[in-house]
Amino acid sequence: MEVAVTTASKRREILQPKAMELAKEWGYTYVPRERHSIDKMLEDSDILVVVKATRVDLFKKGQKEAFYFHPSGSHLRALEIRRSGRDPLIKAANISPDDKIVDCTLGLGSDAIILSVATPKGQVIGLESVPYTANIVKHGLQTYESELDELTQAMRRITVQTYDYTEWLIEQPTNSQDIIYFDPMFHEQVASSNGINALRAFANGEALSEAAVLHAKRVARKRVVLKDSYHSPVFDHFGFEKIDRQASHIYGVIDCSEGSL
Ligand SMILES: C[S@@+](CC[C@H](N)C(=O)[O-])C[C@H]1O[C@@H](n2cnc3c(N)ncnc32)[C@H](O)[C@@H]1O
Repeated sequence: MEVAVTTASKRREILQPKAMELAKEWGYTYVPRERHSIDKMLEDSDILVVVKATRVDLFKKGQKEAFYFHPSGSHLRALEIRRSGRDPLIKAANISPDDKIVDCTLGLGSDAIILSVATPKGQVIGLESVPYTANIVKHGLQTYESELDELTQAMRRITVQTYDYTEWLIEQPTNSQDIIYFDPMFHEQVASSNGINALRAFANGEALSEAAVLHAKRVARKRVVLKDSYHSPVFDHFGFEKIDRQASHIYGVIDCSEGSL
């Protein structure tokens, strides 16, 4: 997969050093923007990273919509947590402030941010198998300034690793994390979830594997949590108990704490 980094066409001289620095850090080729259109530049690379003044966009051949980091849904959820202390994912995962959590499917980072808001004394690791998506989201989590202090701090505490979750879980010691969370791509398009639809072209769409669930149960001290569509057969197949139905999805849990097996 050929990935190139360039700048927005406006203010390109000012943005050039940052684009060159990110290209070097991520191991991609820097290509000067000059007066070329995005479509023209995509004739020579599969993925184009465009560094703008306030964000970094990902473009793909044949794909109209760009993908970029934005805390989107997590902003409203953080406001609700501030108001009521409640969030369906925090409830499903039964989180304590010092929990060590692994979000195996980082995606846009929205759930990881909420998990981090709920664990100010803990740790959140976000795994993403698609390297350019992981890079963009990691960069966003490190640089985005939210007007909500707790959101900015939560973003900075997340550790992003470019990793396939099955490979990562296999390497972890038994009982070394508290909660393991999976949110694989739904196969049906969810109309209300624009961020996820933009992510779709830049995401790994594979289904949850036997090996991943087996090792997640070994690595988690407390719970393995899965988010999926309400009618997904995956819950029953792997023994997740469905617990909290939302408009577009439902959470399922496997309790791994002592005495639960
Ligand atoms: C539905 S999105 C997750 C959305 C995320 N929960 C959020 O709040 O933004 C699923 C993400 O998991 C990633 N993914 C899928 N399979 C993976 C794997 N085996 N290892 C790591 N990441 C994976 C996809 O590339 C995609 O970015």
